[in-house]
Amino acid sequence: MHIAIVGATGMLGQPVTRELIRAGFAVRLIARDVAKTRALFPNIDVVSADLRNVDALRDALVGMDAVYLNLSIRQDEKQSDFHTEAEGLQNLILAAQSTGVKRIGYLSSIIIRYQGMNGFRWWVFDVKQAAVERIKESGLPYSIFYPSCFMDSMNGTQRAGRFILLVGRSGVKPMYIAASDYGRQVARAFQLVKDGQNQEYIIQGPEAVTQHEAAERFVKAYAKEKLRTVTTPSFLMKLGGFFTAQADYGWHITEALNNYPEGFESQKTWDELGKPTTTIEQFAGSI
Ligand SMILES: NC(=O)c1ccc[n+]([C@@H]2O[C@H](COP(=O)([O-])OP(=O)(O)OC[C@H]3O[C@@H](n4cnc5c(N)ncnc54)[C@H](OP(=O)(O)O)[C@@H]3O)[C@@H](O)[C@H]2O)c1
Repeated sequence: MHIAIVGATGMLGQPVTRELIRAGFAVRLIARDVAKTRALFPNIDVVSADLRNVDALRDALVGMDAVYLNLSIRQDEKQSDFHTEAEGLQNLILAAQSTGVKRIGYLSSIIIRYQGMNGFRWWVFDVKQAAVERIKESGLPYSIFYPSCFMDSMNGTQRAGRFILLVGRSGVKPMYIAASDYGRQVARAFQLVKDGQNQEYIIQGPEAVTQHEAAERFVKAYAKEKLRTVTTPSFLMKLGGFFTAQADYGWHITEALNNYPEGFESQKTWDELGKPTTTIEQFAGSI
């Protein structure tokens, strides 16, 4: 199977791309910045295209059987902006339909289900829910993944220098997963899938831990540098949201993470795609 990947340079796109390559798929990376992408993935086919440009996407998708999407809404993105998971996805679907692509793979999120709970509403979750519907209505077979929290965030979006940033305190226990384990599950899903079949998988890691427990364990096990956790009270973050888009994003995402009552739902995923085994300690030791 020839798989094109959009978003391979992303925090989660990189480990998934590595696992798809390792699994033996013929991979083509569709990227805005070809030099940056080639530096990350030497000897891999890289083609220049932006999700804003449907003609460039058409050219980039020629000869591909499937396309896997690792897209995001940036923390400074405004509701009225172009969104890769809205207009960009629409362009991608148009291009895929006209070039014979037979499958769309998409990284969604389990947390978008928090929309509507406890009166919570956020335009970002509207965009992400609409993206799932858009893919399902495209007529193209799909493989959609709904992951819990990634361990990689602690060393990515939550990391500021020597600090791991947390907001508020919560008793809910997400099942943290390492993106490399997830990448192996994506590869397995593409290996198993039959022509025309649709796949949807909840993605969860081996154990349920609170965000504070996860961050403390990560800090303790990370040997390269002495790290510390810092917790901002939720009300301060909410207040900051009136002044900066980043704080507004931070408040909304942590409000959802702190309250979404996640339970174990991955038995089918583990049975079909394999059980993720990487612990927080192993993850911290591997980066
Ligand atoms: N963090 C978690 O715990 C978690 C949990 C569940 C789900 N998720 C979901 O995971 C998804 C991916 O996250 P991530 O952290 O990997 O995102 P990311 O680091 O922001 O990566 C986004 C990718 O999209 C590419 N891109 C942006 N605009 C583009 C355009 N106009 N045309 C083509 N490519 C474009 C970027 O390429 P450039 O290099 O050119 O910028 C980058 O490779 C998010 O949607 C998030 O909701 C995350």
